[in-house]
Amino acid sequence: MPYSQKVLEHFKNPRNQGSIENPDAVGEKGNPVCGDVMKMYLKIGRNRAEEGGRGLSAEEFIEDIKFETLGCAAAIAVSSVLTEIAKGKTLDEALKINKDNIVEDLGGLPALKIHCSMLGVDALRKAIKNYQLRITN
Ligand code: FES
Repeated sequence: MPYSQKVLEHFKNPRNQGSIENPDAVGEKGNPVCGDVMKMYLKIGRNRAEEGGRGLSAEEFIEDIKFETLGCAAAIAVSSVLTEIAKGKTLDEALKINKDNIVEDLGGLPALKIHCSMLGVDALRKAIKNYQLRITN
């Protein structure tokens, strides 16, 4: 299976690439087999109910998210689309994002590249866990 048009598009024009100055959390995940490394930066917002007036109770959410990825085309595309999926989600919602969500959003990935989607999920979850650990300590 070749890369989908969406994978190629996100690879050529990645969204939210770069870092966040003074992030609230960072999560990094590498794959020792292929050597690819993904880093996710988060800015956490609060009190969405007051800001957005959407009737939700005050909760923490991903206000901004950026990534730095040293990796294959699929890893770049996964990082890019994952930032789009995660932005604006509450931390609980973001923790539920799984590799199938990413693969589906990208219109599929070659079987050999499925692990690249897991790298993104792991880096995001690690960033959220790091944030939760930081604020409870
Ligand atoms: Fe390992 Fe893509 S080949 S993340």
